[in-house]
Amino acid sequence: MSKTFYIETFGCQMNVHDSEKVAGTLVAFGYRPVESPEEADLVLYNTCSIREKAAQKVFTRLNQFRKARTGGKIFGVLGCVGQQEGEKIFEAAPHVSLVVGSASYYRLPELLAQLERGERHVTGLSLDTDQTFDTEFTRRDNPFRAYITIIEGCDKHCAYCVVPFTRGPERSRTSQSVLGEARRLAEGGYTEIQLLGQNVNSYRDPSPARVSFAELLARVAEIPGIRRVRFTTSHPRDFTREIVEAIESHPKLCSHVHLPVQSGSSEVLRRMQREYSREQYLERIAWIRQSKRPISITTDIIVGFPGEREADFEQTLTLLDEVGYDSVFSFQYSPRPNTASLRLEDAVPEEEKGRRLRVLQERQKQIQLHRYEMFVGTVEEVLVEGRGGRESQWKGRTSHNIVLNFTVAEVQAGPVNLGDYWNVRITQAGPNSLVGEAVAGPVDSLGTPAAVAARPGPFSVLQ
Ligand code: SAH
Ligand code: SF4
Ligand code: F3S
Repeated sequence: MSKTFYIETFGCQMNVHDSEKVAGTLVAFGYRPVESPEEADLVLYNTCSIREKAAQKVFTRLNQFRKARTGGKIFGVLGCVGQQEGEKIFEAAPHVSLVVGSASYYRLPELLAQLERGERHVTGLSLDTDQTFDTEFTRRDNPFRAYITIIEGCDKHCAYCVVPFTRGPERSRTSQSVLGEARRLAEGGYTEIQLLGQNVNSYRDPSPARVSFAELLARVAEIPGIRRVRFTTSHPRDFTREIVEAIESHPKLCSHVHLPVQSGSSEVLRRMQREYSREQYLERIAWIRQSKRPISITTDIIVGFPGEREADFEQTLTLLDEVGYDSVFSFQYSPRPNTASLRLEDAVPEEEKGRRLRVLQERQKQIQLHRYEMFVGTVEEVLVEGRGGRESQWKGRTSHNIVLNFTVAEVQAGPVNLGDYWNVRITQAGPNSLVGEAVAGPVDSLGTPAAVAARPGPFSVLQ
């Protein structure tokens, strides 16, 4: 009987997609996926270290299985905590036999073979690499939306961040390899592609074709069968006008840019080593706002960075008003191992960080409600992803990446298929989502005919 594996994923979309690639590699190696760690011969945790709480979760999980090794299970720690802690994991959790960071996943077949030979401790921890983890064996969780990693690692030096230490140097895939994967996905029935990278717009084609990031976006959008293209995360420093122009001229490029600002104070940005000022950031926002098509902007913010005074925080609040974000991911500063900000003085007390976070989130809630109300009365196209919050509702995301719950009138009744695109008139706005009624659907051009025929059965119709 074949060996079984279970993989649990923490952290960002890069990790989610890495797990899909790891799972595919394991299947190609003869392993079979199972639904719980109890049933599995190989239990993997793909971990995140971005904030202290995220890293703690990993050790809580590992401790739950401390005594389970007697069952002959093999435990592995992948991802950013694995890379950060390295062999120390074997001491902290003696039942673990495998520790691999994302910069070594391309070595997985060889590392798995070592495990199978019964080696007690196997590691892949070198960060000295120019390799990316490209595999044809990806096992994607979603049958309609597919991630494609185009660039790995990070060469920036933000003072608070562990990523350069956990994911290694920046390395881009060739444009041919990215476009080849996108074409295969379109042929396989995927209609939405999301290009991924810690700084996706720092992409540099290593092939002689030297395709720029904006050009790559356009070329992916031109692939027959692909209906939506998203990309995340963009770094303000490397954000160009060409990216906005590409979105303007290619309707398939979604009307959304995630552009993390971190702080509205130029002084805090300097201390964070973000390499741009408030004014430079706002210049990029102006390019996006000048677009002929309205584009949603979302961001990440850290409150309570060392030395952040009340006046700095106020500037972050005024930035929220000035930009008008459609969504904000906000975090309290968390000191992380190896990072430069550990050496900075003037820590902000925990209660004060908590207060700033609450004030910021309350302010953004009002802004968001106001912005979502502007969609009422408009018609938005939605990719159906599942059942909505209420009975008889369906749910999906608009091109602006806003969650939309909608109903379908009796006259249009017929099956609503997951993966369909419907046109929906917006009738209500809440602070986190929209509500609407379908006006037309399913909208045509759901991929190439072969792709539609190849749609995975169990996912395609929800009763
Ligand atoms: N590469 C992206 C960010 C990736 S990490 C960029 O540069 O924008 C995702 C988010 O986590 C960051 O944008 C930041 O807001 C947050 N973050 C990173 N390190 C953090 C820390 N030490 N404490 C709190 N939040 C942090
Ligand atoms: Fe971290 Fe900065 Fe790199 Fe983003 S750009 S991953 S915040 S070091
Ligand atoms: Fe976390 Fe690593 Fe992603 S630290 S956010 S899993 S890059």
